[in-house]
Amino acid sequence: MSQRPTGRFITPTTATGAENEPAAYLRREFRLDDLPTRAILRVTALGVVEAHMNGAVIGDEVLSPGWTSYRHRLVVPEHDVTDDIVVGENVLGAIVGEGWALGRLGWENKRNHYADRPALFAELVLEYPDRTQIIATDTDFRAATGGVRSNSIYDGETYDARLEPDGWDAAGFDDSGWGAVEIVDWPLDALTETAAEPIRRVQELAPVAIITSPSGKTVVDFGQNLSGRVRFTVTADAGTVIALRHAEVMTGGEVDVETIRTAKATDQYIARGEGAETWEPRFTFHGFRYVEVDGWPGELGLTDICAVVIHSDMRRTGWLETSDPLLNQLHSNAVWSMRDNFVGVPTDCPQRDERLGWTGDINAFAPTAAFLYDVRGVLGSWLQDLAVEQKATGFVPWVVPDVLSNPSSPTALWSDVAVSLPWALYREYGDPKILADAYESMTMFIRQVAALLDNEGLWSTGFQYGDWLDPDAPMDNPAGGKTDRHLVASAYLCKTTQEMAATAHILGREDDAAEFAALTQRVRAAFRAEYVTEKGRVAGETVTGYALAIAFDILDERQRRHAGDLLARLVAKAGYRISTGFAGTPLVTDALSRTGHLDEAYLLLMETGCPSFLYPVTMGATTIWERWDSIRPDGTINPSGMTSLNHYALGAVVDWMHRTIGGLIALEPGYKRMRIAPAPGGNLTSSELRHTTTQGDVAISWSLTEQTMTVGVTIPEGTTAEVALPLHPDGEMREIAAGTHEWTYQVPDAGTARSFTLDSTLKELSDDAAAWRAFTDAFARHFPGVPLDGSAPEAAFMSVSTMLEYVPGASEELRDDLASALASVSQGVTA
Ligand code: BGC
Repeated sequence: MSQRPTGRFITPTTATGAENEPAAYLRREFRLDDLPTRAILRVTALGVVEAHMNGAVIGDEVLSPGWTSYRHRLVVPEHDVTDDIVVGENVLGAIVGEGWALGRLGWENKRNHYADRPALFAELVLEYPDRTQIIATDTDFRAATGGVRSNSIYDGETYDARLEPDGWDAAGFDDSGWGAVEIVDWPLDALTETAAEPIRRVQELAPVAIITSPSGKTVVDFGQNLSGRVRFTVTADAGTVIALRHAEVMTGGEVDVETIRTAKATDQYIARGEGAETWEPRFTFHGFRYVEVDGWPGELGLTDICAVVIHSDMRRTGWLETSDPLLNQLHSNAVWSMRDNFVGVPTDCPQRDERLGWTGDINAFAPTAAFLYDVRGVLGSWLQDLAVEQKATGFVPWVVPDVLSNPSSPTALWSDVAVSLPWALYREYGDPKILADAYESMTMFIRQVAALLDNEGLWSTGFQYGDWLDPDAPMDNPAGGKTDRHLVASAYLCKTTQEMAATAHILGREDDAAEFAALTQRVRAAFRAEYVTEKGRVAGETVTGYALAIAFDILDERQRRHAGDLLARLVAKAGYRISTGFAGTPLVTDALSRTGHLDEAYLLLMETGCPSFLYPVTMGATTIWERWDSIRPDGTINPSGMTSLNHYALGAVVDWMHRTIGGLIALEPGYKRMRIAPAPGGNLTSSELRHTTTQGDVAISWSLTEQTMTVGVTIPEGTTAEVALPLHPDGEMREIAAGTHEWTYQVPDAGTARSFTLDSTLKELSDDAAAWRAFTDAFARHFPGVPLDGSAPEAAFMSVSTMLEYVPGASEELRDDLASALASVSQGVTA
């Protein structure tokens, strides 16, 4: 903080910091003879705090001060309270709950990670024309307990309205029965100004249904998996206990809490019995769509209860809507998973006994996040935490803030967030200060990894998460996917060393730039020698292996083309079911579309079978799931014990949707120069993208009716763009300046060009991803598991009809099915 703090941290002498302890209520009365010209309240806590003054809650933050690496950085929010001060008696008060500083964090069932007791810090700065007076937390404060009987982020809050002292936060209250406070020792130099938007109540959702379950329970469905809590108004007899159990999912007609593991996620309200009472818990939040309500007097009505969505109050900056409802839902799911996992810290999930700042998750999702919301505040603050913890311990923690029992070791995608996140933010916002601020942390990490390389230049030792949650990994070993973990590590190192070299160059550190460029060369050469054949086949033949080699520019041009073809064949062979985890998923569609396999990228994106991008959407998902099959086709929950329904990492494909369907690519960091190149496919007929860049608003829309394409583009002052008009018959490019532009033109008649029948040869079909897909799917319905090879030499001249003569048992029904499958793709309009 700019000024030396005068306050101290105080706690009730009776506080123990133990589980289920009532929240601390603190107050101090003071008299003023004159009104100050300005009054500022700075308030924070070890725990979470709700500040009160003269009978009212101060500010609109919730769960303040959020979660940072408290020992190094404890944020002190400021509130202008000039209008709340009166001449005469005033009261400064606060309720302090356990929050992240004391409550249990992580699945190891450990609590008190930062503090033994809850503590309040406050400074009320009163400015007069001739002087400044400061009322600060000290031993003049008095303490008691009130309605908040217990509060836990994971387990929920219990509030007994009968025990709330009336008027405790206003002047004239008799606090003679209240106890004393004592000073808690805490490093005051850790106090820092707010760097991120606070957590706020951002939206309210009404129930979409109130259900009576088969067992007779009342369940409220809010229609959306969200982070927050509920607020209700009830009229009940004194002592009535209303319990609210939160869940993401219902199975067999009942709420199912399997996905939240040991988190109790249960709030309880005990009524005072004096007319209508409204309550919302203060010191907890849950990840939920359903709430089971127990003890409600009479019938619960739709207007009695609402869900209050809470998260860091960032500015929304990105939107995409297409003609396909399933894709729109996928996009919405990514947006919601982002919102739900930005409650102060970018977390893996918001519901179970975890909710940690997992580095790999945000690394995978960062480009998407930075498009959807302005994340400079939240992620900038988080990167500061990462850097201070890295400096203190010598390693980048796997979770930031770090609460794991054991020290983390360097891993690809997780720890290398230290490099790739500042880089992603720089790409989005174009501000070199982001790189300068993170430079020490970035270089420290990359040099640490450089020292671990083997003689060949490969990152071939040590623990790696690999392609985490590859759907083919054993259920109990999510790191044991198909793709060699050290291949993944060395590939990511090719990426991060390139980012480092570019960063050093931007910051004018040419010696470092040369060092990191040489490192890239070394690792890339070693990677190619170890994992890539001369023609471009990648060891292990996995989708992720190919995607990384292509996307991270590890291959030469000829190898890249071949690798692209092999990748396209692999995804087709898998029936466009997804086969990648955290490492490969953000890149596979790019690797396809960048090597001329746009159709395959769309087929992958739009597949609905399990596992696939859209499978969860077809199962009613309203957020992105942790596993491709968190809920299995039979409706049961994946029994692995790690099955959140709200994990943004696998939603990273949305970044490809923004660039490829929406068509917006920043050619220069910060969008001063753009490429606008929507690439229609997948039978989409329209898309509308909007993005608020640091330069201003960009809008891109395209729509295809019959054979007419209409494209609209708006770009802000001070920017230019090259526009590649989608499906234009002559492949036209335009240069544009700021303003609004529109083009209308006829596209080639794709229908005639793509006519497939039983007379088509197998080669003709296999050359067209959509046709081959339709054909092989229809064939597999009759002959499951029988392979078809469109690249066999005889496929070049053998028609489908001829082939059928060689298929024993080929029925008329099969012929008809094949004919109609081929007809259906003949009519499609794609690039
Ligand atoms: C988290 C992940 C995380 C992973 C790494 C899980 O428990 O939920 O998303 O990245 O652990 O170990």
